[in-house]
Amino acid sequence: MKFFIDTANLTEIKEAYDLGVLDGVTTNPSLMAKEGISGKEKVRNHYKAICDIVDGNVSAEVIATDFDEIVSEGKELAKIDDKIVVKVPMIKEGIKAIKYFSSEGIRTNCTLVFSAGQAILAAKAGASYLSPFIGRLDDISIDGLDLISQIVHIYQNYGYETEVLAASIRHTMHLVKCAELGADVVTCPLKVITGLLNHPLTDKGLAQFLSDHAKANP
Ligand code: G3P
Repeated sequence: MKFFIDTANLTEIKEAYDLGVLDGVTTNPSLMAKEGISGKEKVRNHYKAICDIVDGNVSAEVIATDFDEIVSEGKELAKIDDKIVVKVPMIKEGIKAIKYFSSEGIRTNCTLVFSAGQAILAAKAGASYLSPFIGRLDDISIDGLDLISQIVHIYQNYGYETEVLAASIRHTMHLVKCAELGADVVTCPLKVITGLLNHPLTDKGLAQFLSDHAKANP
């Protein structure tokens, strides 16, 4: 399973990359705004800075919602770096654009996915990645992990090549469950990735080992 980090914060991206387990980055307009990135030039430079840190691919989301504008914005984003994957919302115009990008060899990440029907549509359009939002479904009392399970099953039935990129991951159990269910990728905040390190028995055991070593080597 690939690990992507879901942030536009360069320090966090660098920290995850330095851990040696990072396969890519996803961003969205809210995450870019959170970092105070606005204006075409600044946005472009920021995506380039992210691409320069990581080896894997970087999802950059379009703001446009009209087919022609999505295509034009997506092409501009794709020109920034070979690592860019154009993130497109799950709307009618978005599906048409994903089909177009697919025929042009431009990789896409279909975002804001909340149902299996939407997942089928995106795969048929040729999306490279599909982003079902687990946490936001949980927020409205619908089990987001059930959707991951359903989509993985459907994609296996038909051999769709679209990778299931589980998004809106809020905690380590979401991540571990996604691994059990066969999601291809998880994208999550840094704290979820580093949270995988934690276990009290590891801390206790290490303290004991170091203490025993110190006693034997005064
Ligand atoms: O980037 C899309 C998704 O991961 C957003 O997550 O926590 O805002 O629902 P969240």
